[in-house]
Amino acid sequence: MNQLTSILLLFSATLLAACNVRSNQTPPAGAKSPGSPDSSKDPHSYSNPEQIKVRHVELELQVSFEKKALEGSATLTVEHAAGSDDAPLVLDTQNLSIDRVESAQGSRDFQSSPFKLGPPDKILGSSLTISLPAKADRVRIHYTSGPTAAALQWLTPVQTAGKKHPFLFSQSEAIYARSWIPLQDTPAVRLTYTATIRTPRDLRALMSAENDPQTPRSGEYHFKMTQPIPSYLIALAVGDLVFKPLGQRTGVYAEPAIAANAAKEFEDTEKMLTATEKLYGPYRWGRYDLLVLPPSFPYGGMENPRLTFATPTIIAGDKSLVSLVAHELAHSWSGNLVTNATWSDFWLNEGFTNYVTQRIIEAVYGAERAAMEEVLERQELMELLKTLPEADQILHINLTGRNPEEGVTDIPYAKGAAFLRHLEKAFGRARFDAFLHGYFDHFAFQSIRTSDFVTYLNQHLISSGGEAGQSNVPVDEWIYKPGIPAGAPQPSSPVFSKVEQQARQWINGQLPASRLQTATWSYHEWQHFLRSLPTPLPKERMAQLDAAFHFSQSGNSEILHQWLLMAIRNDYALAYPKLEEFLLSVGRRKFLKPLYAELVKTEAGRLRGMSIYRKARPGYHPIAITTLDEILTWDQNR
Ligand code: BES
Ligand code: ZN
Repeated sequence: MNQLTSILLLFSATLLAACNVRSNQTPPAGAKSPGSPDSSKDPHSYSNPEQIKVRHVELELQVSFEKKALEGSATLTVEHAAGSDDAPLVLDTQNLSIDRVESAQGSRDFQSSPFKLGPPDKILGSSLTISLPAKADRVRIHYTSGPTAAALQWLTPVQTAGKKHPFLFSQSEAIYARSWIPLQDTPAVRLTYTATIRTPRDLRALMSAENDPQTPRSGEYHFKMTQPIPSYLIALAVGDLVFKPLGQRTGVYAEPAIAANAAKEFEDTEKMLTATEKLYGPYRWGRYDLLVLPPSFPYGGMENPRLTFATPTIIAGDKSLVSLVAHELAHSWSGNLVTNATWSDFWLNEGFTNYVTQRIIEAVYGAERAAMEEVLERQELMELLKTLPEADQILHINLTGRNPEEGVTDIPYAKGAAFLRHLEKAFGRARFDAFLHGYFDHFAFQSIRTSDFVTYLNQHLISSGGEAGQSNVPVDEWIYKPGIPAGAPQPSSPVFSKVEQQARQWINGQLPASRLQTATWSYHEWQHFLRSLPTPLPKERMAQLDAAFHFSQSGNSEILHQWLLMAIRNDYALAYPKLEEFLLSVGRRKFLKPLYAELVKTEAGRLRGMSIYRKARPGYHPIAITTLDEILTWDQNR
């Protein structure tokens, strides 16, 4: 993550009294703070679910690689709230071209319905307001997605592993579902879906739904998601994909060229699944499969239900980066089952998931590895806190008027997990595990606000916590204040202390690189070693390390990324060809953003960065391009 946002609106954080309003529900009589941000509508959606709710969508889409468009229709099943029979249906869209809209009641025929597209907002897109006859419960929108739809990346064959077929994938989180489906694009609304997807005959379509691994390639694919999910979890991918089973309920889809490596790397997935069930109760989504995307995928992973989307850059050959699989799997409880109702509550998704990830890693790979991962993450968080504006250090962040992505930093992830760790330490593991298990059951298939969690926490852990009660864990400070509370437990790793010793000896010149005791080091120890080195580091010293350990040739994307960052900082030119190759072949934003940001710090670096970016930009995902254009002050219209 480590994502610093450059433009910031500063505002004072609102302290919120716990108010017992759950989204999707009418506030109970006597609910507090009716006007507070925690009970108001989602600022990132135009929709009006309090009047009409979309319960189901039926998609019929033709995938056209020539036009870079999805063409077809979305038929929404809607439900009016009492007294809102006459309300228009307001949906979110972004760059969709709307052909016509029809509506129907019950089994009657569809009739044309008047609609209006609102003016486009840079972040939110355009509202689509549809006038409906009273009691209409089905609405069909005929539309086409735009060629630069924010959620979609259309890859040419050369951008794939096989080089023969094109590839398409979607990335809907946080608010990009609206760029390919007209919907109430707020995580507060949950819906089921079915889909018919037509593709070129030789390709396979997959969705975040029931996928039958045995489906023959026919050019027409049918999908069903029968559990209500938020719109940001609707996902589609189309390409030359094959399936490899991993376990009974788990498997991996990938291009043929990488399928075998992927299956080997992810062979522990079934174990992770069983370990999580043991902690937090049954996996409720049927199958858990992974889809390995081409390297331009802008994220590490995306927890699309039943089908996690993943970057190929985690295939290191030694399973060292599979905590990403644990993370996306953990979302099957935290995020997909219990969902943040607005993007201000994003830490409920990612902080919980990060905590659960650490627990899965501990269960499957042992406490030592889990501790190392926790320490590495805490280091990043502490680094971030040095520069991040205070308003952005708050778990329950105010994102009104901003892109929800500006809230995607180590705060929701690492600070969120640290908060849960504090609760675990204060109340004891057994009690805290039972509490979390109960929380997932209690809020299953619901979208909730931070205040819902606080209320539940007070009722089910704190008020019954006896001695270890609230006094030990400053809940409000964790959630509504910047920084890390003073009493937060510190993760530590004895293994890392040894790494630091070695690093010191090399830094002091006591030992040459070749004499360091690194034979048993895992990825985590290497990463810690690199981070323990000072900046600046003379080029000759960089060269000595490279000669001894071949960092510039590392097949581990995290190590290579860390090394390339150091290369830029220390102007270690021997690594520049590798830097260019990396920036041209990988589209994962977490890697690109720090590298380009480091490059633009000097004039020579900026020129190098610009020249690489010019070549690389056409291959990046729209989501990454938006971020990078800003860093490189790239004028889109040049
Ligand atoms: N849900 C996120 C990805 C995401 C967040 C997409 C916000 C769009 C907006 C996913 O679960 C995630 O956190 N991915 C991380 C990996 C993880 C191991 C920290 C990533 O992609 O780096
Ligand atoms: Zn996540």
